[in-house]
Amino acid sequence: MARLNVNGQSYDLDVAPDTPLLWVIRENVGLTGTKYGCGIAQCGACTVHVNGEAVRSCSLPVSEAEGKQITTIEGLAQKGVLHKVQKVCIEHDVPQCGYCQCGMIMAVAALLKSKPKPTDADIDENITNICRCGTFQQVREAIHAAASA
Ligand code: FES
Ligand code: FES
Repeated sequence: MARLNVNGQSYDLDVAPDTPLLWVIRENVGLTGTKYGCGIAQCGACTVHVNGEAVRSCSLPVSEAEGKQITTIEGLAQKGVLHKVQKVCIEHDVPQCGYCQCGMIMAVAALLKSKPKPTDADIDENITNICRCGTFQQVREAIHAAASA
């Protein structure tokens, strides 16, 4: 059993403690915005926030997320208002196929919380998510736009 708090809601779930958090979010909680890419903490498609920090949920056992605040892409907008990173991604036409974008947005949102005005070097260091469509330059522009929004 695991008791999780996801997007402000509590869930009691019948899962083994070593199940990756990503699986639990998708299969047990039923929120499928968070994506599976590599399963080995490399691509960032599975990024969620755990106590406000970006975490690659494919590589975190659910037992380590118990008692913490988990936020997924579905919980990023507040009261129907999109997060500023979501807004700039739309305004700058960032998504191509979109598969990486939920994880990318969660990673960027966490970066802007810790560094409201990131430099290109900060972006290179912190946003290591992989986008097979090659939206990296558009993501960078969107980050700078969100930082000055
Ligand atoms: S699926 Fe988690 S980092 Fe790729
Ligand atoms: S938009 Fe297609 S993988 Fe990033």
